[in-house]
Amino acid sequence: MTNIRSIRGRDYITLMDYTTDEIKYLLSLSRDLKSRYYQGERHRNILTGKTLLMIFEKPSTRTRVSLDVAATQLGMHVIYSNPQELQLGRGESIADTARVIDRFVDAIAARVYKHESLVEMARHAVAPVINALSDKEHPLQALADALTLWEIKGRLEGLRVTFIGDGDNNIAHSLMIIGAKLGWEVRIISPKTHWPTKFNELLAEDVRRTGANIVISDNTEDVRGTDAIYTDVWVSMGMESEAEERRKIFRPYQVNTELMRKAGPQAVFMHCLPAHRGEEVTDDVIDGPQSVVWDQAENRLHTAKAVLLSLLA
Ligand code: CP
Ligand code: NVA
Repeated sequence: MTNIRSIRGRDYITLMDYTTDEIKYLLSLSRDLKSRYYQGERHRNILTGKTLLMIFEKPSTRTRVSLDVAATQLGMHVIYSNPQELQLGRGESIADTARVIDRFVDAIAARVYKHESLVEMARHAVAPVINALSDKEHPLQALADALTLWEIKGRLEGLRVTFIGDGDNNIAHSLMIIGAKLGWEVRIISPKTHWPTKFNELLAEDVRRTGANIVISDNTEDVRGTDAIYTDVWVSMGMESEAEERRKIFRPYQVNTELMRKAGPQAVFMHCLPAHRGEEVTDDVIDGPQSVVWDQAENRLHTAKAVLLSLLA
């Protein structure tokens, strides 16, 4: 039986390391914390005296603010820094930085260009390291996405979720991982040049166990009948040099009214945000009746609280 003890003290770098039961536990806890918060309960004292350090190599609105607010609501002290303000910016190694800050703080959340930086940090810190987005994965986002779908569709099992656009980016990867763990059908629709690499093999065991189905296609006709259409920017942070080429190659994969019509009325529209309106999604879709993007964004707070609580309580 999963409980808070199986998660306590661990890193939250990839959902690949978490079992189906642990993910379901984090989602149930998120839902519970959200409903208690709506009923006016403030859980201020649970993590009093603990400190979260946040190091962000790239900009962030949702992740930075939701983690800060979540930690504050749980009673924690939060320190935010970009690497330039730390000696990291002058060449102190990740390993030495991790060894030192580990003696001060209770958890480290980091947004990095290279996923390997998180692994290196975790190797040298006992304190849990939380992935606040890397080039490979965005596990905090995936948890909020699953919570949103659970609330809207009324179930976690048997969901059919379609990601369209850059099929080899962090959001697509994390969606495949959580989908494989929860037994979903995840369709990735993307030009062949941007199909996800390796993840299919890495997830084979989970797919077998949960009965999940991961389908990779370059055909936009495959959106039909899905429960959710999910897209993300065509040019992720760090990919700016490829911007022009990416805008060309992903153009046929834009989520617009026609694509949503093809998907069907049961399909909700999802986006991790920030959105580049007029590129991967049109205004009428993101602002339209099928869009659940603001619920997704709100759920970043409740899921961040569940993660902090489970790692640190
Ligand atoms: N979705 C997401 O992680 O947004 P930010 O880049 O604003 O944190
Ligand atoms: N794929 C995007 C996600 C932003 C939350 C990026 O990495 O820039």
